[in-house]
Amino acid sequence: MIGATSAIAEATARILASRGHALFLVGRRGDALSSIAADLRVRGAAQVETHVLDLNCIESQGEMLSRAVTVLGGLDVALVAHGTLSDQKACERSVELTLQEFYTNALSVISLLTHLANYFEENRHGTIAVITSVAGDRGRGSNYVYGSAKACVTAYLSGLRQRLHACGVCVLTIKPGYVDSPMTAHLKKGLLWVRPRTVANGITNALDKKKDVVYLPRFWWIIMRLVTLMPERWFRSLKI
Ligand SMILES: NC(=O)c1ccc[n+]([C@@H]2O[C@H](COP(=O)([O-])OP(=O)(O)OC[C@H]3O[C@@H](n4cnc5c(N)ncnc54)[C@H](OP(=O)(O)O)[C@@H]3O)[C@@H](O)[C@H]2O)c1
Repeated sequence: MIGATSAIAEATARILASRGHALFLVGRRGDALSSIAADLRVRGAAQVETHVLDLNCIESQGEMLSRAVTVLGGLDVALVAHGTLSDQKACERSVELTLQEFYTNALSVISLLTHLANYFEENRHGTIAVITSVAGDRGRGSNYVYGSAKACVTAYLSGLRQRLHACGVCVLTIKPGYVDSPMTAHLKKGLLWVRPRTVANGITNALDKKKDVVYLPRFWWIIMRLVTLMPERWFRSLKI
């Protein structure tokens, strides 16, 4: 579980713990990881280990993965969940911030996926699951820095799925819509919003069914079909 302090990741880990799975939690806040781990043990996890890592330290990702494989005795599923909701307006004023956001939301994930793909390819089984976003389906004026980073990961996963299909490894792209989590605490909520637990149920369901791409909740598939089909000359004048 990479980015294990994320609300969506924690809710997913709770479901997996209740099924008795062993979990390896990676995040940058050791105290938060320890308290999540204690909770997951009470909920029935067979084993819970923690690893403190700022995921932007890409040079340490390989070592983290080696430790996960060693302490768990192998991996069946890797869920990549870390991310930051970029301040679009601040990014428009700062090249440095824009690239930093791209680093966290795209490059650190692609770096991890390079390690994970090679591990799973060699072992010829398992699932790599990554949370991208509906925001990656079409760039919008209000959040295109975040959206384009997610789009980059979504395209990468599409290619990775083709590569790993032949050796029996699944690649799951998870595209949530609006989720009420710490990331979105400052935003006004409406009808389309769901709790992390709802998305977590969708993630475990998709893992069980070995799906390729899921929109969570499913109604986002319809919304995003409409959004992506809209001609550019209409789309460009929308204030969204
Ligand atoms: N919430 C939504 O509406 C929504 C919609 C679509 C997609 N998503 C995606 O879903 C995923 C999970 O988000 P969430 O909603 O669960 O929000 P969240 O609770 O704020 O989780 C984001 C997580 O990313 C971690 N993180 C960020 N940068 C990191 C770094 N450099 N190293 C290690 N960890 C880092 C944060 O760690 P700290 O706890 O240490 O800050 C936090 O645990 C993200 O990829 C997000 O983009 C969210």
